[in-house]
Amino acid sequence: MSALNLRTFAIVSAFCLGSVLLLPTVALGEQETDLKGQMQKRIDSMGLLLAGLAVDNWSKIEKGAQGLIETCESIDWSGPGKDLFKKRDEAFCSAAQALLKYVQKKDLADTQRAFIQTTITCWGCHDLPVTK
Ligand code: HEC
Repeated sequence: MSALNLRTFAIVSAFCLGSVLLLPTVALGEQETDLKGQMQKRIDSMGLLLAGLAVDNWSKIEKGAQGLIETCESIDWSGPGKDLFKKRDEAFCSAAQALLKYVQKKDLADTQRAFIQTTITCWGCHDLPVTK
C-alpha cells in the first residue's frame, strides 16, 4: 500500500464507499438504538477519513476514526440476529481500534491499510443473509 499512488488509493476508496452504500441492507428485529443514525455516522466518519487521507489532514483523519469508535460504544444489538450481528460488529470495532492506533501514531501507510481493512468489515456484516 505504501507504494500505491495516492490518487489511485482515493479512487479505489471512493469506489469502496460507494459500494457500501449500494449494498442491500440486512434485516434485523427491533433495535433499542437508532441504528440508521449510527450507520449514517459510520458512513460520515469513513468519508471524513477518506477526505483526510486524500490530502494528509490528520485532524480530519482522527475525527473520522474517533467517530467510528463512538458508534461501537452506542450500538446495542437486539432482535433475532443479535448474536451474529454482535460478532460481526466486534470484527468491525477491532478493525476501527487498530485504525485509531495507527492514526494516533500518524503512520500514513498503516492508516491507509487499516482504512481498507475497516471497509472490508462493513461488508462482512452487510453481506449477512439475515432476514426478519
Ligand atoms: C455488525 C453489522 C454492521 C456493520 C459492521 C456495519 N453495518 Fe452498516 N448497517 C447494518 C445494518 C443492520 C443496517 C440496516 C439498518 C436499518 O435499516 O435499520 C445498516 C445500514 C447501513 C447504512 C444505511 C443507513 C440508512 O440510512 O438506511 C449505511 C450507510 C451503513 N450501514 C454504513 C456502514 C459503514 C460505512 C460501515 C463500516 C464503517 C458499516 N455500516 C458497518 C449493520 C452493520
